[in-house]
Amino acid sequence: MKLNHQQLTTPPPPKKKMGVEEHLRHREPPPKPTNLKSLFTHLLLFFLGYLFGFFSFSTTTAPSKPTSATLIRPQQPTPPTTTDPVHDLYRFRTHCADPIPPNQVRQTLLSKIHKNTSPFESFPPPHLAHLLRPRRVRGWGSTGSVFETLLRRVRPKVILELGTFLGASALHMHATALRLGLRDVQIVCIDDFRGWPGFRDVKLFRDVAAVNGDVVLMYQFMQNVVEANATGSVVPVPFSTGSALASLCQMGVYADLIEVDAGHDFQSAWADINRAYALLRPGGVMFGHDYFSGYDDRGVQRAVNLFAKVRGLKVRPDGQHWVLSSD
Ligand SMILES: C[S@@+](CC[C@H](N)C(=O)[O-])C[C@H]1O[C@@H](n2cnc3c(N)ncnc32)[C@H](O)[C@@H]1O
Repeated sequence: MKLNHQQLTTPPPPKKKMGVEEHLRHREPPPKPTNLKSLFTHLLLFFLGYLFGFFSFSTTTAPSKPTSATLIRPQQPTPPTTTDPVHDLYRFRTHCADPIPPNQVRQTLLSKIHKNTSPFESFPPPHLAHLLRPRRVRGWGSTGSVFETLLRRVRPKVILELGTFLGASALHMHATALRLGLRDVQIVCIDDFRGWPGFRDVKLFRDVAAVNGDVVLMYQFMQNVVEANATGSVVPVPFSTGSALASLCQMGVYADLIEVDAGHDFQSAWADINRAYALLRPGGVMFGHDYFSGYDDRGVQRAVNLFAKVRGLKVRPDGQHWVLSSD
């Protein structure tokens, strides 16, 4: 017999004990041995009542052995017993540390990420130099008009780029900023510099070398920065967007312009957009690439549109780019 929790913890019902006590009470004073039949009936009833009480007590208090069903994970996934908190899907950190001044962003990043040394110092490392080309830049829509439009409008001091690859868009923004007379612009480049699995199988990138499974993407990017004479304006942050953005948030590193161009599936784009938005200065602009890409069933577009909807913003497409706007 299966017992529920209540049965296991509830003391035996008093009613059954009362039956025993009642019989005991009836035994005092003992019946006169005049009527043997009635005495026998009485004793039989008392005995049966005692047995009944004894068994019902021991059945309700004996610890039940856990059945295997309580220990083994079911084959089928267990449906959620409570309503999932759907709003948790929208919960991202929206407040970060107090902002540090823009002119301290570079030094802060060098100190906290690169042990107070420019990663461009003593570059390239001798054991990799022969694998790098003097300049090897290649991107996707990385020189579109949207960059100049936004640089003119925002006149940023700090630009945050999620997804840098070989640096085509970062170096284009650097050159455009110089041309527009914008001084002291820092471009913070977040990229794990791994590309994506199999990217070296693409004919275009077969020449990008790898050493023991480690592609030299970051070194070739840095070589491109050196060649463009932009080492004082670019800070590589060679980590995943998730961990890098969390760290910038803790450091209080905010940006005036944020370009999102890393993972192009919905989940990656959704997380990147939400996390990066917390680092956008008031008056700043967030934009990104591949708004019309079909990848992951238009993953970027779905993420951007959902974000705009949740935040009450507008999406202004510009070629393949998307720009978020409050009006
Ligand atoms: C399309 S490329 C960026 C192109 C660049 N913006 C340009 O226009 O030249 C995407 C880059 O995002 C990086 N990436 C993708 N997912 C990432 C992640 N979760 N964290 C860090 N980098 C990521 C890849 O390594 C790759 O270099």
